[in-house]
Amino acid sequence: MRTELSEKLGIEYPIFAFSHCRDVVAAVSNAGGLGVLGAVGFTAEQLAKELAWIDAHVGDKPYGVDIVLPAKYEGKGEDIGAEELEAKLQEMIPEEHRTFVKQILADAGVPELPEGEQLRELIGWTAATAWPLVEESLKHDKVKLIANALGTPPADVIKEVQDSGRLVAALCGSAKHALAHKEAGVDIAVCQGTEGGGHTGDVGSIVLWPEVIDAVAPMPVLAAGGIGGGRQMAAAMAMGAAGVWAGSLWLTTTESDCPPEQKETYLAATSRDTVRTRSWTGKPARFLRSDWTDAWERSDTPDPLGMPMQFMVTVEAVARSNRYPAQAQSVGFNPAGQVIGRIQEVRPVRRVIDEMIEEYLDAVERLNSLMPE
Ligand SMILES: Cc1cc2nc3c(=O)[nH]c(=O)nc-3n(C[C@H](O)[C@H](O)[C@H](O)COP(=O)(O)O)c2cc1C
Repeated sequence: MRTELSEKLGIEYPIFAFSHCRDVVAAVSNAGGLGVLGAVGFTAEQLAKELAWIDAHVGDKPYGVDIVLPAKYEGKGEDIGAEELEAKLQEMIPEEHRTFVKQILADAGVPELPEGEQLRELIGWTAATAWPLVEESLKHDKVKLIANALGTPPADVIKEVQDSGRLVAALCGSAKHALAHKEAGVDIAVCQGTEGGGHTGDVGSIVLWPEVIDAVAPMPVLAAGGIGGGRQMAAAMAMGAAGVWAGSLWLTTTESDCPPEQKETYLAATSRDTVRTRSWTGKPARFLRSDWTDAWERSDTPDPLGMPMQFMVTVEAVARSNRYPAQAQSVGFNPAGQVIGRIQEVRPVRRVIDEMIEEYLDAVERLNSLMPE
């Protein structure tokens, strides 16, 4: 299982795990893969605590941090601080959108947040809010990889990360995006097919992976979108991927901090229960289909705003569904890829990885057995 990339990072298996949950990140790194912490929802102060916890729980194993610096968003290029940008964007949000969010939640019977609870509306997906996350990550020696979603990271981010001896990865959903990453000097392209959870393009993995691998060779490409087991991993490696990158797979693990009711929803979902929707973040992202996604699709309801404004409106729904997961099951914030349909039980991270490796080896053996003596 040794690849040039796994040697470089000092990991046993080229299995990369995206998760917002520090316990998952540490468990993956401890099991021989590379856990990558999704930092977008944290302030720099919160991230410092999460990373200190991971540092204390991974021994000498490496891990990564994922930020979100989109190529395009409302307010990009404004040379102002996070608070000022948040206030400016708030003024641009139509009241109709806020009312609509409250209406959907009320119709579903999701309780209001306790009086006085303050929500941070502008999270880490602008330059003003993402830079402090990069700076914090670079204070932690075991962070060996910084990944960026939704665009090529700015040149100064790439330089600072690489000058510190770390690798830069960037997600992509097309060969054009991947070539832009390569041109900018990014080390690794994470190529995500449309079936993947979260922000995603519209070309399926089995078509996209080889297209991107060929376009950017010899740049290493991690295959993402639909990785649920060793057969998918074998397919990706057979196509020339340098490893696999999975997100949905970890949502239902023992270590995942998703509430039990949300895990139930994920476990019950089939591969046909997801939809690509702009209704949560303003950019197309794959979520479980729900009364929420249906409500935003209707022609008599508001159209989603752009990023980051749509999430500034929907953050209330995210917070209420996190706090009241049982009441929010029909409208909750459930990002997931189509592979969620293959996940039917809660398993510890180590078992997920061991079973992936076993299935991978079986697949490789099956292929070898097809060769003439
Ligand atoms: C719950 C969830 C949240 C995600 N959030 C992010 C994110 O903040 N940043 C990012 O780079 N990718 C994010 N992704 C995408 C993953 O990094 C990964 O590319 C994707 O899950 C791969 O497809 P899969 O879901 O089929 O494994 C998210 C995915 C999921 C399922």
